[in-house]
Amino acid sequence: MAYQGKPIHAEWSSSFAFILAATGSAVGLGNIWKFPYIAGENGGGAFVLVYLACIAVIGIPVMMAETMLGRRSRQSPINGLASLADQENLSRRWSGLGWLGVAAGFLILSFYSVVAGWAVAYVFKMAAGTFTGMEGPAVDAVFGAMLAQWHVVLGWHTLFMVLCFLVVARGIRSGIEQAVRVLMPLLFLLLLLLVAYAYHLGDFGRGLSFMFTADFSALSGEAMLVALGHAFFTLSLGMGAIMVYGSYLPRRASIAGTTFLIAGADTLVALLSGLAIFPIVFATGLEASAGPGLLFQTLPYVFGQMPAGAFFGTLFFLLVSFAALTSGLSLLEPAVAYLVENRDWSRRKATAVLTFSIWALGLCSVFSLNLLADFYPLGFIEPLEDKTLFDLFDGLSSNIMLPLGGLLIALFAGWRMHQASSRDELAMGRGYRVWRFIVRYVSPVLIALVLAYGLGLFQAIGLL
Ligand code: TRP
Repeated sequence: MAYQGKPIHAEWSSSFAFILAATGSAVGLGNIWKFPYIAGENGGGAFVLVYLACIAVIGIPVMMAETMLGRRSRQSPINGLASLADQENLSRRWSGLGWLGVAAGFLILSFYSVVAGWAVAYVFKMAAGTFTGMEGPAVDAVFGAMLAQWHVVLGWHTLFMVLCFLVVARGIRSGIEQAVRVLMPLLFLLLLLLVAYAYHLGDFGRGLSFMFTADFSALSGEAMLVALGHAFFTLSLGMGAIMVYGSYLPRRASIAGTTFLIAGADTLVALLSGLAIFPIVFATGLEASAGPGLLFQTLPYVFGQMPAGAFFGTLFFLLVSFAALTSGLSLLEPAVAYLVENRDWSRRKATAVLTFSIWALGLCSVFSLNLLADFYPLGFIEPLEDKTLFDLFDGLSSNIMLPLGGLLIALFAGWRMHQASSRDELAMGRGYRVWRFIVRYVSPVLIALVLAYGLGLFQAIGLL
C-alpha cells in the first residue's frame, strides 16, 4: 500500500529535544573511539584543524540540507524523497537515495552493535576490577579471548540490539526523546568527570599539546580525506538518520541554529574525549597512536595502573555505551519510519522485525572475529585480500555508501530542488546564499573526492 501523505508520525516536543536526539546520533563510537586514534595516527593537531574545517565547510551545510529535506517531507527518507520529487517535478527514482540510506543503516548498525557490545562488556569487566594492576599483554589477552568466543560476542551484541529495540519501539516521544533526555546529560557529566580525572592524574599538558600543536608535515593528502570522511560519519550524515529526525522537527524551529549546536556539541565531545584519553595514556608512558586497540587494550591497561582506575574505567565504558546506544537508535529509525508508513504494522512490530534482521546480519560480524576470521569473501580482489566480512561491511558503508548518499543529498538539495523551496524551508535570511553556494559547488566536489578515495581510485592510479 502506498503512503497517502497523512502526517502519521509524532513531532519532538521541542527543538531542544531534536537537538538532544541528533546530538545523541552524532556522538558515538566515532567520537570516543575513532576520532582520538585517527588524530593520533595522523599527527595530532594538524589533523584536528583539518577536521574542524571539514565539519564547518562540509558537515554543517550537508547536515542542514538533510534536516531541511526531512522537515519539508515529514516522512521517512524513502517516501519523503519520493514525495519531494513529486512536489518538485522530479523523477521518483530519487527515493532510491532513501533506500541507499536504509541499506547503509542496516549494514552500519549490524557491526556497530557488535563493537558497542564490547563496550557494554567492558563496563562489567572494569567494575569487577579485572584490569587492576594487570600487565599489558594480559590486558590484550582479555580482549583477544573475548573476541575468540563467538557466543560471548554474540551475547553482548544481542543485548545491545535488545536495548535499541526497547527504546525505538516506544516511539518518538516516549522512546527516543525520553532516552536522550536522560542519557545525553549523563553523557556530558561522565565526560567532564573523566576530563577532570585526566587533568588531575594524567599528563594533561602533553595531551593538550598533542591535540593542539599543529605539525603540518605529518599531514598527508590521505589524512585530509580521512578527516573529511570522518566528519561525515561523526555527524551521522549521508544515510537519512538526520533526515528522519528532521522530519519530526517542529516547523518553527531554526534549522541553521539547531545544526550549529549539534555540530558544535559533537565536536566538543570528540575533543574532550581526546583530553580524557591522551593525558592518562601519556602518564602511563604509552604512545598515542595505538590504532583501533586504543579503547579496548590501551585504555583498560592504563586504567588498571591508575588510582581509582576501576571506578573511572567503569564510568568511561558507561560513557561509550550510552554514546553508542543513542547512535544506534538513529541508525534504526529511518527503516522503522518507513515500515510504519507503508504497512499496517504497529511501530512495535516494525521495530521488532527490523531489529531481528539487523541482529541476524550482525552474525556476519560476530563470526568474522572468530569462526570466520580467515574468511576473506573478496580475497580475489587484491586490496581486499585480507578483509573479513566485518571489515567489508565497515568499508562499504563508511567509505562508499555514506559519501555516495551525502553526494546525492547535496545534489538534490543544491541542484534539483527549487531554490524557492529550500529558501522557504531553511528560512535563514542572508546566510542562505552561503549555504546554497557551498551545497552546490563545494560539498559535491569534496565529497566526490572522498568517494573516489573510498573506491580506491587514487590508490589505483598510484596517487596515494
Ligand atoms: N555518528 C555516530 C558516531 O559517530 C555513528 C552514526 C549514527 C552514524 N548514525 C549514523 C553514522 C548515521 C553514519 C550515519 O559514532
